[in-house]
Amino acid sequence: MIYFDYAATSIKRKEILKDIFENMENFDGNPDSLHALGRAGKKVLEDSRVEIAKSINANPNHIIFTASASEANNTILSNFKDDFVITSKIEHDSILNTVNKEKTIFLDVDEDGYFSLDELKEKLTDEVKLVSLMFVNNEIGAIEPVYKIGEFLKDKDVFFHVDCVQAYSHVDIDVEKLHCNSLSLSGHKIGGINSFGVLYCNKKINPLIKGGEQEKDRRAGTSFTMGAYSMAKSFPKAISEREKIKELKSYFVKKLEESNFSYEINGSLENSADHILNLYFPKVKNELLLTYLDMNGICISVGSACRAGSVEASNVIKNMYDEERARHSVRFSFGFTNTKEDIDYTFEVLKKLRGIDGKER
Ligand SMILES: Cc1ncc(COP(=O)(O)O)c(C=O)c1O
Repeated sequence: MIYFDYAATSIKRKEILKDIFENMENFDGNPDSLHALGRAGKKVLEDSRVEIAKSINANPNHIIFTASASEANNTILSNFKDDFVITSKIEHDSILNTVNKEKTIFLDVDEDGYFSLDELKEKLTDEVKLVSLMFVNNEIGAIEPVYKIGEFLKDKDVFFHVDCVQAYSHVDIDVEKLHCNSLSLSGHKIGGINSFGVLYCNKKINPLIKGGEQEKDRRAGTSFTMGAYSMAKSFPKAISEREKIKELKSYFVKKLEESNFSYEINGSLENSADHILNLYFPKVKNELLLTYLDMNGICISVGSACRAGSVEASNVIKNMYDEERARHSVRFSFGFTNTKEDIDYTFEVLKKLRGIDGKER
């Protein structure tokens, strides 16, 4: 099996899972219990919090553990339900499907998928209380100008939230330099266990999930110690894999350039994250390409995983180009299990697909 769908979720890191199973006494207890098992869990949880905080240059007191980045994003939006909000047209569904559309101003993107500080400046009024923008787009990998936007917003009376899910470990994140009030991260995108997220927040907020007093009253629910630990331990590994992933993407692009395929890259290679490559094949429908590669043991995606299972064309590609292009576009996303041999094999398989050279079927 060749897995090129890391932007949907990473292959899990077996050595971390093994480490968890071999030290189960540190994970069995409820970290809020007062006995020995509880204390062992608490120590793992708090050590993980410190490590995760360090990874984004944050104060551990500002790290709130959640069950997903979707929940982290929802938590922030739930605090601004009645306010005017600025976001972009290419955000993740956990933002787009949650905002109150009547009170939301959507920034456009250019042909490479970037929103701009200039448009934000134009649209920002005193009524806007929240600006929520993504760092790296999940479908095309565009690295958005959030550092510049944070610099501009830092003296304004507006809350700045950044969805950093696809940036984490691929692009440096520093909360001080971002001048953000909050950001979201997801453990499973870097090799941690699924269903564990992080909300960094330096302001007092109301919890979305109410109940117990966990996470200092900011998020109720029994803590997921294994999720926190697996994310904290995955981060340094993911950082050490950066160069390899960059090389894999360059190698893939070089093979494309040398091929007789008819294709275009969606977005720009200039300022994009190294793990995502989105391609347009004018004469091949994306569904067909996905199924064909799947039959040959290769996993890719035709949009964000939340839309998988449906044939809905990518909202991001539609906004940047048009519906027709979106129906002929696929995403390859790379990670630590991939090799150049995987890419060679993929090209051998692709070469046999009718229409890939742009000729009519
Ligand atoms: C940019 C972005 N934001 C948020 C999320 C949601 O993450 P989670 O799966 O942890 O809810 C994703 C997941 O695909 C994403 O790519």
